Amino acid sequence: MVHVTKIYLPDKEKYKSYVDKIYESGWLTNNGPLVQELEKRLEEYLGVKNLLCVSNGTSAIQLAYRLLELEGEVVTTPFSFVSTTSSIAAEGLTPVFADIDPESYNIDPQNIESAITEKTSAIAPCHVFGNACEIDKIDEIADKHHLKVIYDASHAFDVKYKDKHILNYGDISAISFHATKIFHTIEGAAIVIKDDALYEKAKIVRSYGVDGPDSVGMLGINAKMNEFEAAMGLCMLDEETIIHEQRKASREYYVKQLKDYIQMQKKNEDATQSYTYFPIVFRSEEEMDKVRSALLEKDIAPRQYFYPSLDTLSYVEKRRIMPISRDISSRILVIPMHSGVEPTVSKIVVETLEKLRR
Ligand SMILES: Cc1ncc(COP(=O)(O)O)c(C=O)c1O
Repeated sequence: MVHVTKIYLPDKEKYKSYVDKIYESGWLTNNGPLVQELEKRLEEYLGVKNLLCVSNGTSAIQLAYRLLELEGEVVTTPFSFVSTTSSIAAEGLTPVFADIDPESYNIDPQNIESAITEKTSAIAPCHVFGNACEIDKIDEIADKHHLKVIYDASHAFDVKYKDKHILNYGDISAISFHATKIFHTIEGAAIVIKDDALYEKAKIVRSYGVDGPDSVGMLGINAKMNEFEAAMGLCMLDEETIIHEQRKASREYYVKQLKDYIQMQKKNEDATQSYTYFPIVFRSEEEMDKVRSALLEKDIAPRQYFYPSLDTLSYVEKRRIMPISRDISSRILVIPMHSGVEPTVSKIVVETLEKLRR
């Protein structure tokens, strides 16, 4: 079966040489030398400051709320991976949804203001499929209402907004380095923190809140990355260009073959193109279902991603239904961008749609 993502494994000999180093030092976790090296290299590679590696993307977002000591409500997108919402709820905050733009699939700034109440403390958008949000408009709203902005940038490792890496935006930006991502550390993630004092605090909160040999200064969590994960990240960084070129070619092929048949995500013109995912939106749920079945018959497994729309989760307040998010969720598929499967996928999509639309 060809799955929607294929895990990339970098050069084995290089990884082994890092494992040798770990065996020599006997340092496996607790802010080891490889984690520190990865943080430094990522800051240089991405052009960001105050980057901390953590255990996974979900804990990265949770850490952001804990650091900012937020209370009340957080206005967020209903169209993202579940962690964007669950991390808000897990930190004792209330997620309040603002519906998405039907073309960019990102939170629509026009809907943010009407979701703000006197209890709102933050806005939590996601750069969906690496498509940059309308950052300037979101900043304007945040400034006007004195709100913090926490971006879920998990899909946006390869994206710049107005010539700066996208992780530079927001009070805190979080990015997952899960094994399925274009840059990964097996499990892992990073947060980038605008405020220097908050960055220092994050180092403590990431490690149980322990701020001295016999002292626990604040409420913390265990969100530490280990040395084997950092070693994977260091190897992956050396091969990012290969992954980038392969995904770029894959995307360009799909655009050429499919642009007349399906709705493609509308890109933010102030940002670079991301090559992380190739989402396609059909005219109806029936079309999506038929294409998915036809692909599965050939052992190709696309993913209905993101589904379900997060306003349908059992643990969120059913304050308002999000019709656009629900609609896009019901007719979207993300298709594989690897293994040379692109011609087969394109052919099946086109043939199925032509038959249905006849
Ligand atoms: C948009 C988004 N946010 C958050 C996460 C959570 O990251 P992790 O799996 O590293 O916890 C993911 C994970 O795949 C994601 O796609």
